[in-house]
Amino acid sequence: MSNTTNVAAPLQHLAIIMDGNGRWAEERGLPRVAGHQQGVRTVVEIVNECVRQQISCLTLFAFSSENWGRPESEVETLMSLLLEFLASQRQRMLDDGVRLRVIGDRARLSATVRSALNVAEEETRDGGCLTLVLALSYGGRDEIVRAARQIARRVASGEIAAEDVDAADMASALDTAGLPDPDLLIRTSGELRISNFLLWQLAYAELYFVDAFWPDFGPVELRQALDDYRQRRRRFGLTAEQTAAGEGLSNSAS
Ligand code: IPE
Ligand code: IPE
Ligand code: MG
Repeated sequence: MSNTTNVAAPLQHLAIIMDGNGRWAEERGLPRVAGHQQGVRTVVEIVNECVRQQISCLTLFAFSSENWGRPESEVETLMSLLLEFLASQRQRMLDDGVRLRVIGDRARLSATVRSALNVAEEETRDGGCLTLVLALSYGGRDEIVRAARQIARRVASGEIAAEDVDAADMASALDTAGLPDPDLLIRTSGELRISNFLLWQLAYAELYFVDAFWPDFGPVELRQALDDYRQRRRRFGLTAEQTAAGEGLSNSAS
């Protein structure tokens, strides 16, 4: 009867909407770029903490499909910071067993950024500790549309029947194919929304919103979020009794 035995499944996949860089800078009378620079430092700290916490997958929302609409100079700054991040963290990722993977519409990224991402993915492919997924030029709706097109092509070619298309086919047509669904989503900066992030994959994620701006979110704040997650009781649509008995603890369609 008691749901105290229903401990949360171990956290395999953490997803983060890194928000509030601009406001962090504005509060200090600094240009937004200073907030993004500080935000990259936070990324480095949080990646290291996830390695320490033995989390196997971390997905960071770094640039959304809607962020393309920001002023050109801000978009350029964000892309240069990404290139700097890849260059400065290369050795550390290799040493720490971090494997980089990118999700999103790469076609919209510049050739320079695309090629740096391809090189980093290739170089880090044997990293076995943490898969670091960067969501870049990423939108959940865009991803679902691209997956639907892929499945439509398979149906049109006669490879599968429309009636046979199931959730696992959909999951494996998404950019996140092969990754477990996120167990926990953190969003910083006090905004209470998903902003088109991982719409399919977050179906049963636990949600955690924190007021700190991303540049102020550090290992201590991350550990608080992980502690909070451990208190959650996940039921996946079942009753407390069923989940206490260990049923239904699956979190993925694939
Ligand atoms: C998050 O911080 C970084 C990106 C979206 C690229 P913001 O730039 O959205 O910062 P705020 O929300 O304006 O404070
Ligand atoms: C979400 O933040 C996207 C990223 C963190 C990359 P935004 O700042 O773009 O989201 P909204 O506009 O507040 O919803
Ligand atoms: Mg924002």
